[in-house]
Amino acid sequence: MTHFATRQGFNFNKSSKQMKNRSVLAPLTHNMSFDNGDISENEIAWLAKNAEGGFGMLITAATAVSMTGRSWKGQPALITDAQQQGFARIAKNAKQHGALAIVQLHHGGMRTKQEFSSDVAVAPSRYAIDEHYPEGVREISTAEIVNLINDFVHSAKLAYEAGMDGVEIHAAFNFLLSNFSNPELNQRQDKWGGSFENRNRIIFDIVSRIRTEIPRDFIIGVRLSPENYAHFTGVDIQEQIQLANSLNKMDIDYIHMSLYDSFKKPNHLLDEEQTLLQWIKSKLDPEIVLMVAGNISNITAADRVISQGADLVAIGKAAIGNPDWVNQINAGKPLIEMPYTAELLSSNGFTHSAIGYMAGITGLVVKNETNTVR
Ligand SMILES: Cc1cc2nc3c(=O)[nH]c(=O)nc-3n(C[C@H](O)[C@H](O)[C@H](O)COP(=O)(O)O)c2cc1C
Repeated sequence: MTHFATRQGFNFNKSSKQMKNRSVLAPLTHNMSFDNGDISENEIAWLAKNAEGGFGMLITAATAVSMTGRSWKGQPALITDAQQQGFARIAKNAKQHGALAIVQLHHGGMRTKQEFSSDVAVAPSRYAIDEHYPEGVREISTAEIVNLINDFVHSAKLAYEAGMDGVEIHAAFNFLLSNFSNPELNQRQDKWGGSFENRNRIIFDIVSRIRTEIPRDFIIGVRLSPENYAHFTGVDIQEQIQLANSLNKMDIDYIHMSLYDSFKKPNHLLDEEQTLLQWIKSKLDPEIVLMVAGNISNITAADRVISQGADLVAIGKAAIGNPDWVNQINAGKPLIEMPYTAELLSSNGFTHSAIGYMAGITGLVVKNETNTVR
């Protein structure tokens, strides 16, 4: 059979939720919320369009659990009752089209931007001013860590009450939770630093509180990026595997590995025949539900990723131009390829500011003078 990704269903056995196919809208930040984190009509419409377009699951843009850790202008938040109402609409629209709706919960950590947040950037340990962190990074206090865990749990509860199907904890890409995991960045001497167990305690505590305080039908996923990327270093791939296996024992529903390119070789084993995905799959506990993102643009790529061990495939850039990615594939129709024109993105519901933001991502948007942010 071909078209596993778009035609074959998937059951989350532990939470008793079904997906009509294995295709997931990857979390995509697009700066379409308001300065106070309230969800805009554009954002709600964009997610509904992807549900209508056939995706079996939608993951929202990285959503702030606290105004202390926002990384982008127009980043959504899930903190207040008004914001919860926006998520209730996202959940309702998804259900109407038979899709599951997951909110990605996020704190920016070192990558917090002070101009959009109520505080300076924080990390497990102080980080000196350099060209990447011109404002410097302050060490987070123990009281703030406890508050932050409460913030994640609070947002998860709001999501559950809003009818969302679950949360994805963002522990990837050098944001706060991955800063804690990272032995280079986490130099703490207290119970939040040092050993593997201590460095990942914040993630374990968030997951265990959400699992205990919200009924079991609520999906918990965790997103990891198992290799270094950009200028960031210190990510230990063996520990990322250990983290995934430990989280699985805590009764989560899926691990989301963001690989940048699902077909690449592992950085630490470039001479190997196997891909990074195959290597990861061989190290993970076999019962882990594995979602994979990275350069999955068409059905051939998606089915290949499934044949290499993924259960679910997350589609990012390809969905930005093709919110009907699943329906187009199943109808045997062609997909629109990158770079996308500003006109196409506008007709897909993106605002001028969203298109300006996306124009900064290499190869995503056709360059011209009208799609830069003003
Ligand atoms: C415009 C844009 C926004 C993104 N926003 C997020 C985000 O909010 N949270 C996240 O974990 N990843 C985010 N990503 C990463 C994607 O989820 C995905 O992992 C990555 O783009 C690789 O998949 P792709 O090749 O299918 O795009 C973003 C990527 C793009 C291009």
